[in-house]
Amino acid sequence: MDHEKYSYVEALRWLAQKYDIAIEETATSPEFKAQQLTADSLFIVNQFARDFFSNALLETDEGKAIALSYLKQRGFNEEIIRKFQLGYNPEQRDAFAQAAITAQYNTGLLQKAGLITFRDEQPADNYRGRIIFPIHNQSGKVLGFGARVIKSNDKAPKYINTPENEIYVKSKILYGTYFARHAIDKADECLLVEGYTDVVSLHQAGIENVVASGGTSLTTDQLRLIKKYSTHLTIIYDGDAAGIKAAMRGLDLALEEGLDVRMVLIPDKEDPDSYVNKIGAEAFKAFIQAEKKDFILFQLGIALQEASDDNAKKAVVVNQIAETLSKINKTEEFSKRQDYVRQVSGLLKIEEAGFNELVNKFIREKFTKEESRNIRQTLSPTEPIDEAGTDQLEALLQKDEMQEQAFVRTLIEFGTKSWKENETVADFVFKEMADADLEELIDNRQLVDIILLYRNWYNEGLMPGSKNFLYHDDHAMSSLVIKIMDTQTEISHNWKNHFEGKIATREELYREEVTSTLNYLRLRKIKRLIIENQLELEKTNNPDDQLLYMETHLALKALETKLTSESGMVIYK
Ligand code: GTP
Ligand code: MN
Repeated sequence: MDHEKYSYVEALRWLAQKYDIAIEETATSPEFKAQQLTADSLFIVNQFARDFFSNALLETDEGKAIALSYLKQRGFNEEIIRKFQLGYNPEQRDAFAQAAITAQYNTGLLQKAGLITFRDEQPADNYRGRIIFPIHNQSGKVLGFGARVIKSNDKAPKYINTPENEIYVKSKILYGTYFARHAIDKADECLLVEGYTDVVSLHQAGIENVVASGGTSLTTDQLRLIKKYSTHLTIIYDGDAAGIKAAMRGLDLALEEGLDVRMVLIPDKEDPDSYVNKIGAEAFKAFIQAEKKDFILFQLGIALQEASDDNAKKAVVVNQIAETLSKINKTEEFSKRQDYVRQVSGLLKIEEAGFNELVNKFIREKFTKEESRNIRQTLSPTEPIDEAGTDQLEALLQKDEMQEQAFVRTLIEFGTKSWKENETVADFVFKEMADADLEELIDNRQLVDIILLYRNWYNEGLMPGSKNFLYHDDHAMSSLVIKIMDTQTEISHNWKNHFEGKIATREELYREEVTSTLNYLRLRKIKRLIIENQLELEKTNNPDDQLLYMETHLALKALETKLTSESGMVIYK
């Protein structure tokens, strides 16, 4: 898992495949199975195509004369060509198609893979006369291809790519990850360029922690792929306006994913490939180190330059940069954001507190939006909130009340049972409740009174049970206890435990019942504290206070995690 940054399941599949062990996957729908089957077939046909193209480039006269010579003239050596498995699709109308059909590959599949097409009802190659760049997934299997023209031709597009299919999903692919992943991990930095040739050239120059976006804006999936290996992203784009724009489009998303983003602009009319060929590997490395700029401050510089002395434009810049900074909003990134706020307000010559408030405003807006979405989700994952909403809210509150009742019921029912040596459940509960104020854990005043009464009786040496309450003078209290003890529904989430095949009874699992009901109430309290703290944080502009609230937040979150893992309970948002 660590080596390839796989999830547990991905790691299992990888091992199973490597050692040829069949793994049985349950819960797969027929559609999913069919999709898997197509995906497997696509990988196989792509592998065949890769080998065909590679052979055509390296072993045929046409390939050597037209394509290999072109690549060599551009400075690529044979070692790097072999490493990246580059290839060539011959000029002849159907050279590949015929080979594939002879090898029994299905024409439908070949079309799906984007390798052939039908012209005048005859199969024809899609990438005729082009250099082929195979595009690999993280484990080196071929997802698809990028095919580049050799002779410049105004009519044909420079590159043709595999169409979207079961395995080629453009938004999830970064060219070069397979060859770069260990280097990115080791350097703890990922360089991002635009083109396939940039990746190959930089590798040849010994700079291996590099991947390419393929000339489109970055997607969240691509950023997450990078983040598996490193949180430091350095974008290396052409210094022209289009290059800068392309880079900027990815910035906000990258910040939201928690990446540190820097950028380097390559001087005019060059791209990383041509530039490294021009100045050499060592000079290129030095250039990157020297020119690496913090992207946020860089963006500010450009925007300010554009705005120059126009105050209205400047106001727009202030707003934009505040919004950008608001994307750095993970709690643990707080001090990073504050550093930026300080630097940016300095550069803009505006008051820090006011600017900070502006940034907070953007965070609040986003937070509020997300929060309302979360509440909707909790209330009803599928239905819209509108009219049904209030009923659902009531149901939710009622569920909370049920949890309080469940706790009281547990105490009354099992209080006198043994918790551990020389300690009863009641001893344990009252000890645990000593520090946490009872009233803070339980909202319903009547239930608090029941617990207090129980405690009095217990401390007097009585062994209280439901009977004691039934004959109690306070009529409201006795009928509430009757109601609680009478509730037949299984309130705890933990009834999945089985003893020798039969479902365990409450009686057998009373210790678990005690912990889970108590922990539910504690978790709820922590959640309330988190929200209160969050509100305080939003109110203040004082950096010292903010820091304090952030620390409180982290401590509460840690408690929440601990409680959740202890009780095996799900967190309710
Ligand atoms: P060279 O010009 O050979 O150095 O290629 P390059 O990779 O540097 O190409 P360029 O800088 O023009 O474009 C960067 C990347 O954008 C390419 O690697 C492709 O992934 C993509 N791209 C460029 N042109 C096209 C096109 O016409 N179609 C498609 N689908 N992608 C393109
Ligand atoms: Mn180029």
